[in-house]
Parts: sequence; C-alpha cells; structure tokens
Amino acid sequence: MSKIKKNVIKLTLLSTLCSTAYAGNVEVLHYWTSGGEAAALKVLQEMMDEEGHSWTDFAVAGGGGETAMTVLKSRAISGNPPTSSMIAGPEIQQWGELDVLENMDSVAKAENWDNLLPKNVADIHKYNGHYVAAPVNVHRINWMWINKSILDEVNKGEVPTNWDDFIAFLDNASSAGYIGFSHGGQDWQDATVFEQIALGTGGAKWYKKAFVELDDSAINSPEMTKTFERFRQLKSYMDKGMPGRDWNLATAQIIEGKAAVQIMGDWAKGEFTAAGKQPGKDYICAAVPGTVDSFTFNVDAFMMFNNQNPKNSEAQKTLSKLLVSKTFQEEFNLKKGSIPVRPDVNIERFDSCAKLSMKDFKDSSSSGSLVPSFAHAMAMTPDVSGAVYDVVTRFFNEDSMSAKQATTKLASAIKSAP
Ligand code: BGC
Repeated sequence: MSKIKKNVIKLTLLSTLCSTAYAGNVEVLHYWTSGGEAAALKVLQEMMDEEGHSWTDFAVAGGGGETAMTVLKSRAISGNPPTSSMIAGPEIQQWGELDVLENMDSVAKAENWDNLLPKNVADIHKYNGHYVAAPVNVHRINWMWINKSILDEVNKGEVPTNWDDFIAFLDNASSAGYIGFSHGGQDWQDATVFEQIALGTGGAKWYKKAFVELDDSAINSPEMTKTFERFRQLKSYMDKGMPGRDWNLATAQIIEGKAAVQIMGDWAKGEFTAAGKQPGKDYICAAVPGTVDSFTFNVDAFMMFNNQNPKNSEAQKTLSKLLVSKTFQEEFNLKKGSIPVRPDVNIERFDSCAKLSMKDFKDSSSSGSLVPSFAHAMAMTPDVSGAVYDVVTRFFNEDSMSAKQATTKLASAIKSAP
C-alpha cells in the first residue's frame, strides 16, 4: 500500500473516531404534536442530527402543555429529568429554585445572547443572573383566524373590528349554515378565548392591572363581568362537537370551510401553513375585536436540566446554541407560525401575518400595550393561573352561573391561590 493511501486511511479513521467521540444524546420533553408543530420541531431534530447528536423524543400530547408540565414534574421528582424540556415564563424561576437546571452561560457568552435578545426576554430565561433556558419565538395570542371564502360570502369580505360587528358576522355565518365560532372546550382554550375577550373589553391597561398585578378592584369590576357575558354569548355559535376538542381540530374546521372563525394564538397559523394555505387568499389573520393596538404574547423556550454525562452535556450545549441561532429561528418560525425572538433575523420569507405581528410587537412595546398571556403561563404562577382556569371553565360549562357571580368567584379564587 502506498504511503499516501495509508495516510488517507489513517485520516479517515481518525475523523470517524472524532465525530463519534463527540456524539451525544438529548432527550427532549415537549407537547408539539399537531401537524404544524411537528413540522417546526423537525427543523431542530434535523439540525441536531447534522451536528452528529441523537434525539430521544418525549412528546406529551395536550395543547397548552398542562399535561406535559405535570409529567415533567413527576420525572424531575423521581430524579429522572430529560436533558431539556419546553417551558414558558415565570415557571422557569420555580424550577431554578429547585436547583436542577444547568447553567448555559458559556454558550450564551460565546453566542452573544445578551446582545442578541431583548433584555426583558433574556431576563425571563435566567435564574439568579445565569441562563438556564433558550427562547425560540414570540407567539401572538390575540388573533382571529377567519375562513376567507365564508367571510366573502356572508360578510362582503369585511373583517369585524368591534364586538357588535363580530357578533353580526357570527350571526351571518350561522344563518348561512356554517359553524360560527370554532372552539375546543378544554380549560386552556377557554382561558385563551377569555383573556382575548378581556383584552378587547377592558384594554391593555386594565388587563395588566387585573391579570398581571392581580389588583382586586380591576378583577372585581364591570369590565370583568362584561368579559364573562361576552364569553357566554359566544357559546351559542359553537357546534355540538366542541367539548374536549383539540385546538388543531378546531383550526381544521376553518381550513376545511366548515366554520367561520377561531380565536387562537398563531401556532394555529402553523396548521394553515402545513395544509398549504395562504393568508389573504385562503384565510385572514386579524386582531381580535378591540385589540388591534395591543399584543398578547408568550415565548416558547427550552429549559436545560443538570446532567452528568460529558457527551450528553456537549449535545445539550449544541442544542442551546442551535435554538438561538439565526438559521434555526428563521426556519423554525416559518413553520411554527410565530416570529423569531431575535430581532436580527431576515424577515423576507415571512408571510403578511408574521410581518404584521413583528410590526405590532414593536409598536405595542413602545406604547405600553404589550401584555403577557396568562392563559399561556407568561403572567401568573401556575397556582394562580390554575385558579383562574377553574372559574372560567366552570362558568363556561354551568349556564346557571351568572357573569356577576363568576366575577366574585374569580376575585376570591385569585385571592386564596397560593
Ligand atoms: C405554546 C405553543 C403551542 C400551543 C398549543 C402554547 O402554549 O406556546 O408553542 O403550539 O400552546 O399547544
């Protein structure tokens, strides 16, 4: 064998050894199981694969992530947390207190996260000043998703911008034989619709007082009672299959032209995208009536758990690096329906809904009408939001409870929540 040939073989062997030597595994807990969500997650799985690391998928079905968070707690309590888990908002701090999270500062420093992420977003993902989670997006919640051909047929293409016009549109759609309002009766979906009606009814300032500051006079108020009344009003436009329906099946009713409108965060857009539908042509995205100048947000992030295996620790660092990287944020958000959390990502390939979301995010943060979603874990601790969920869903299911009674119940539930 020639000397050159021998050297080539040596080099090939060496590089194979090196690449396998670095390969680690990440086990990732998440709840992205719908068509659009799975397509978005695949971007990450493929990027990890390209980096030579393997992926163990731990999917816990259930929109909004309540079940996933329960499973995460039981795994952490039994001393067996995954490498990483999806998470949102203030809950990160509670996990930090348990001393189970991995410090990701070395990645954050090398990748310059402090300068790339808006400070308020960065802070949510730090515990005691150290990064323990990597944020991937900004979801806007105050959207309605309208079937374009139904809108054209029953409402002359006019998008309703206030509550009365919205109800008139639902009336028109029902009279024409469509389901007016598409909904899935699950507590987190009830809370999602409720918080948007609240924002449209009381405005951003009141919303913050009631749901962020938990101010009793804002909670126990005519605005809240009106919100409950409006929420009940919507019920008559829902179909019989509503109880327990998953959110993506509600979105499918809009996509298939069975229902006129759904109120849902822009993960719903991921379903339209996965079905090959286009905004402006097949569907319309527009702010929930009364919320055009506001923006309710949540940020999806991946939290990193302590881990002792050096190879998996390398893989965990790669995962963190990828999550905040420009390429991932662009490719992932194009599929997820959200917008990148990094302001420097190229926006050319994003659609009109995403571009509007980017603009409204900026405008609302300078005007003070950017508000965190309590239905999506950004405004309250899980104990408080759980208490709110209970009252909202009970009211929705018990027609004998008046809006006034619900308001009083909500105020006392929030007061007595731990
Ligand atoms: C999450 C989204 C997810 C949606 C439905 C929200 O709380 O932020 O990423 O797609 O729930 O499960």
